[in-house]
Amino acid sequence: MDKRRISLVLNHRPTELWVDPRASLSEVLRGEASLTSVKHGCNVGECGACTVLINGETFNACIYLAIWADGKEVLTVEGLSDEEGNISDIQQAFIDEGAIQCGFCTPGFIISSLPVLERDEVPSRDEIRRQIAGNFCRCTGYEKIVTAIQKTARARHGG
Ligand code: FES
Ligand code: FES
Repeated sequence: MDKRRISLVLNHRPTELWVDPRASLSEVLRGEASLTSVKHGCNVGECGACTVLINGETFNACIYLAIWADGKEVLTVEGLSDEEGNISDIQQAFIDEGAIQCGFCTPGFIISSLPVLERDEVPSRDEIRRQIAGNFCRCTGYEKIVTAIQKTARARHGG
């Protein structure tokens, strides 16, 4: 099938990509854009490993067609580093709290945590659990992940 051109803001940069209209956003981000933080886990929208932010909302990129991203703003974990390549506070918190083992699920959890970190208050552990309810981890258990997210919120809000 003929490829179609899409224009989007990808990790803060205006970007044009030629995509198969049948391709998922996760296939295109990993293949065409080399953004391998976006993982292929279940590929049916159940594990959250492929979570990206689209116009500020979390989506499972494996069940989102790449052509739907035309004109939108897409963020992956690669877009969280600063211009010198330093990782963000939430990434550092995952490291510091031991919220990573194999790491396969980690980018998805980090992206899923962003909307709750944008709020003006420190979320409760239950609010964080609800926010990451669509993400599965087979290694760490979830407590350290929740702690890392809450610690980041506290640091941002001076709590
Ligand atoms: S790979 Fe997309 S939800 Fe599992
Ligand atoms: S750290 Fe291995 S699946 Fe979550």
